[in-house]
Amino acid sequence: MDIIEVLLEGHAALRGEFAALTAPFERPHGVGWDDRVALDKKRLLRDIRGFFAAFKTHETVEDEFLAEVLRLVELNEELRAASAAGHRSMGEMMKLFGAVACSCDGRHVYPLRAVLFRLGEELETHLTYEEKILFPMLRERLPVGLLRELGRRAQEGSQKTSLRAVEGRA
Ligand SMILES: [Fe+2]
Ligand SMILES: [Fe+2]
Repeated sequence: MDIIEVLLEGHAALRGEFAALTAPFERPHGVGWDDRVALDKKRLLRDIRGFFAAFKTHETVEDEFLAEVLRLVELNEELRAASAAGHRSMGEMMKLFGAVACSCDGRHVYPLRAVLFRLGEELETHLTYEEKILFPMLRERLPVGLLRELGRRAQEGSQKTSLRAVEGRA
């Protein structure tokens, strides 16, 4: 797999984690403050941790490997800033979502649903930017061999990360 394929796999994992997070909210709503579901709060907090961890891992790989190649293609400053802004904005939305989830009573979910919806928009906006603008540009401008080499290194890195996680749990 080349680096773009590794990152696209990361996007699929992120969308999967996000879908798990939103599953309990997928029911008719639109009743404002009387918007109620019976949330399993323990499970919600676990799903939040899962999503945050997946985002952090993905962001780390991008920061490490994309930063390197973005310099090579001399990407214009605006595009580079858009990518960093996406990560910052996701970080802020995730903090807000985590805080609202902690104060949620597990039944009245209007504020939580609203922030979750915004978080989903932010996530899709960022992933779409990378998939439609950034990645095709890198594919066009960088040699296949370099993309493959970076992919190999990113996979080795993530294998080490998951090995550490397993060892940490043992
Ligand atoms: Fe990203
Ligand atoms: Fe990404």
